[in-house]
Amino acid sequence: MSFLELFKRPGLIGAHRGSRSSHPENTLSALRYSMGHCDFIEVDVQLSSDGVAVIMHDDTLERTTNVKEKEIYKMRVPYRVSKFSYEELSKLDYGGWFYQNHIRSEVLLTLKKVLEFIRENKQYINIEIKDLHDSFSDEQVVSTVLGEISSFDVSEFILLSSFRHEYLSMFKKRAPNIPTAALVEDKHPDYLIKYLKSLKVDAYHFNDELVDEKTVKELRNAGFFVNIYTVNNPKRRQQLFDMGVNGVFTDYLE
Ligand code: G3P
Ligand code: MG
Repeated sequence: MSFLELFKRPGLIGAHRGSRSSHPENTLSALRYSMGHCDFIEVDVQLSSDGVAVIMHDDTLERTTNVKEKEIYKMRVPYRVSKFSYEELSKLDYGGWFYQNHIRSEVLLTLKKVLEFIRENKQYINIEIKDLHDSFSDEQVVSTVLGEISSFDVSEFILLSSFRHEYLSMFKKRAPNIPTAALVEDKHPDYLIKYLKSLKVDAYHFNDELVDEKTVKELRNAGFFVNIYTVNNPKRRQQLFDMGVNGVFTDYLE
């Protein structure tokens, strides 16, 4: 079953950055815990300074690593992910910040490891590519991500999404079999349906604050799948499903 077939099921639950309320976000333990508690997992991808696809949400390292404790990195404020090499990123701990007394550590998660996990577990995944245009060309980002995916036989489990819509048209051109979703945070683009058609996306992901029933119905009638982030209230989740929303991203899994 492909991701597009998964979309035919009602009331999909997406584990936002893995299970980020119970485990450090975007780590292998967050992914492992999500299994069996969701329909798909969402992770965020960025590139290290030497072009390795790594899994991290913030564009700086301060919140989700121990970078501030490392004397050798003290001149590297504001600790931008894109300024650290893969080797440097590998030396940080990605778990301690989450736990009281820093009791458990986590290693850097890469796109490669996520794809291995997907292949092993046949788990559906939404790979969100962060907007990296300040540091990397669209070409580099798109070919790195597709290069990684093509070396694993997992495209049926993948949905690619991004706030940088330029990536999505490029993905569709080069890998038409992989579904894509446009992400939006503050405002719908003008002429929304026409715009999404021009991107050739399969789905549209937007912030719960932008939701209204008319727009959801228009999107669904036009054939787009709709996923909403971030929905942590079960009552609200049901309201959205009743409107016709396909799935929600949540921090809290049952
Ligand atoms: O992909 C849905 C959601 O993750 C988008 O927002 O900032 O949590 O990546 P963000
Ligand atoms: Mg995300």
